[in-house]
Amino acid sequence: AAANIGVVGLAVMGANLSRNLASREGNTVAVFNRSPQRTEALVAAHPEAQFVPAFTYEEFAASLQKPRTAVIMVQAGAATDATIDALVDVFEPGDIIVDGGNAYFPDTIRRERAVRATGINFVGAGISGGEEGALNGPSIMPGGSDEAWQTLGPILRSIAAVAEGEPCVTHVGHDGAGHFVKMVHNGIEYADMQLIAEAYDLIRRGTGKSPAEIADIFAEWNDGELESYLIEITAEVLRQNDAATGKPLVDVILDQAGAKGTGAWTVQTALALGVPVSGIAEATFARSLSSHPEQRAAASSLPGPSEQPAVADEAAFIEDVRQALYASKIVAYSQGFDEIRAGAAEYGWTIDLGAISRIWRAGCIIRAQFLNRIADAYAAESDLALLMSAPYFAEALAKSQEAWRRVVVHATGAGIPAPAFSSSLAYYDGLRAERLPAALVQGQRDFFGAHTYRRTDRPGSFHTLWSGDRSEISA
Ligand code: 6PG
Repeated sequence: AAANIGVVGLAVMGANLSRNLASREGNTVAVFNRSPQRTEALVAAHPEAQFVPAFTYEEFAASLQKPRTAVIMVQAGAATDATIDALVDVFEPGDIIVDGGNAYFPDTIRRERAVRATGINFVGAGISGGEEGALNGPSIMPGGSDEAWQTLGPILRSIAAVAEGEPCVTHVGHDGAGHFVKMVHNGIEYADMQLIAEAYDLIRRGTGKSPAEIADIFAEWNDGELESYLIEITAEVLRQNDAATGKPLVDVILDQAGAKGTGAWTVQTALALGVPVSGIAEATFARSLSSHPEQRAAASSLPGPSEQPAVADEAAFIEDVRQALYASKIVAYSQGFDEIRAGAAEYGWTIDLGAISRIWRAGCIIRAQFLNRIADAYAAESDLALLMSAPYFAEALAKSQEAWRRVVVHATGAGIPAPAFSSSLAYYDGLRAERLPAALVQGQRDFFGAHTYRRTDRPGSFHTLWSGDRSEISA
């Protein structure tokens, strides 16, 4: 057997990952695809690469050194299950099957348990960075057993992106931990994207600047604390003109955002865990709202504000938007890391949040300067209860909160939807409030359902006899 690693599924991501693997010293890569044309095309297009093409699962297994290690890069769902079953049939105990797709983590937990029963290792690994990342170095989030990590670690380290000399891969935790963390990565990605989109919309409608002019603003922001891949590509997208019409491309793209499900999973999971990821949720809902043209048509005649608030000082307004974006971004990451913490507790994973922030510094879609600040925060206090309360972020929020409020006020007054900006601000104000109206909610619950409440001044649970003499009893 000639190959030390194999890849099943040679669509763009799989093909690029295969090429990345083959480009590293010492690797020979077995490649297999359900339709043989893809395998042939990949091998023919890259004669320089150390590929061993296989055309059946048996051939694929025979071409791999033991313990066999194979990465599956097929569609999440049924295709993944079918591929796992086929590999289990030809693999042996001790071999390793890696699912590199965007699987839903409960599926990964289920698959890991089923495959482990055969003695084969199963590793769900989140891989971020899109096509380019797969080829030149993604950020990789593997779960699975310690035993599998022993073999897999060096291979994954060799192909991952590198941030400050450190490869962007860590053994996240057991079974579904890797896919859980990738899911939250995508949730944060949704929030980041929506916040940038809201910033663009506010500037465009507030100042009348063209997309190309706003591209310059984003390019400038990319030199500061907002420096990130998503800000960088935003400038590229805004600067692009449509060849057919000569208009800014952003003006001819249909304004209905797609979603493949990872954002919704992040929110569903957060709801189940009781973690308020409101910024991520609003970002996910904003995509849903955009994608209902019939409802948008029905609502289009509803009135907006009778007067538009003026933007007196454009430069000051743009700076306010920048600060609002930064503050909301801090909230989104704080919420995402909170979800990882809660997920780890619920599923019994030991997840090093500092390590997660470090492997997101390069390779992945949310890569940003900012992740260094998060890494610093966890380095200073590894079990930080609330990321946004770490000194650096607390200070940044203190500095930007007035601007953030002005932007939300402007958006509200102008009738410009800024759901992620405003929900992030509400989260900030909710958490910092000394008293919340949750006390009233508890009173209401006790009134109609005898759900009881606790008191601020003594321990225990209490109930007011609402339909009796309204005296209080111990519950
Ligand atoms: C990544 C991306 C990647 C992909 C998402 C996009 O980390 O490389 O997140 O996983 O682009 O599937 O998801 P939507 O189609 O839901 O936007």
